[in-house]
Amino acid sequence: MNQHFPMTLKIIDPDIYDSSIMETFPASEAAIELSAKNCTFLAGLIRRYHPKTLLEVGVSAGGSSALFLHILDKLHLDSELVSVDLREQWTINAKFATGWAAKKLYPDKKNWHLYTGKFLPEIIEDLDVEFDFCFLDTVHKLPGECLDYLVVLPFMREGGIIAMHDTSLYYQVENAFATRVLFDAAVGHKIIPPQNTQSDANIAAFQISQDTYKYIINIFSALSFPWDYIVDKRQIQIYYDFFRKYYGREAAEYFLRISKWNNAHFLKKFREKVACKPGHRV
Ligand SMILES: C[S@@+](CC[C@H](N)C(=O)[O-])C[C@H]1O[C@@H](n2cnc3c(N)ncnc32)[C@H](O)[C@@H]1O
Repeated sequence: MNQHFPMTLKIIDPDIYDSSIMETFPASEAAIELSAKNCTFLAGLIRRYHPKTLLEVGVSAGGSSALFLHILDKLHLDSELVSVDLREQWTINAKFATGWAAKKLYPDKKNWHLYTGKFLPEIIEDLDVEFDFCFLDTVHKLPGECLDYLVVLPFMREGGIIAMHDTSLYYQVENAFATRVLFDAAVGHKIIPPQNTQSDANIAAFQISQDTYKYIINIFSALSFPWDYIVDKRQIQIYYDFFRKYYGREAAEYFLRISKWNNAHFLKKFREKVACKPGHRV
């Protein structure tokens, strides 16, 4: 055995699940987009770490918002939840507002703060909060959650928890590996549930340590994997300004270069795909 390597990976955490939470959680009314098992993982994290300030990015109907509010209630935690979503209307049915299900289940929650219609860098500074816990569940395709992780990190407490969903979605959806790339590229104390099924592997977390900051270059570097959608000029400018402020000019310029070549690469691939379609006329 090489002394530099441990005998086990020490990342699988058999005690992390808290299944008591799901017995009373109204999953279908909440229109949650997480499996029951994945919910028990989040419940276990909150039971263990007792975060006082939580941020979730990616709300949809508000299923995970409702879950967090439910878990906090059950654990008698007087914590604040901030939920952020780019869309004002529910992506699945635009007749409903983003977060509608959580609002219906918890109409009077004073500890829930929902922000919609903006990118995270446009919101996070004004919140003036240091977060203990963050849950990322947005695009799933690169650059996706990697960008918002870089936005969240300067506002997280050292020792705080970053959890993310859909870390194995790429088995079902082509190129949906943004959170897998993020989880694997990030450095920190990794926490994953026992992975007996593919669905168990669809959620993961890590605890921020000094090495998380030290090796942040991994995340900027991982952004050079091929992106799977066009990031428009406005969004690039917003994130460029943020990165310049919090990570410095070199990191921001690196992001800008990567954005240009990735957008060009995506367009090229897209045009080739369209040109190959039967019936396409040049
Ligand atoms: C998978 S759904 C979230 C599901 C929710 N967490 C749940 O478990 O019920 C993804 C959401 O992310 C939002 N979204 C996509 N890109 C985003 C971004 N850059 N910032 C914030 N929200 C984003 C979408 O509008 C959508 O509502």
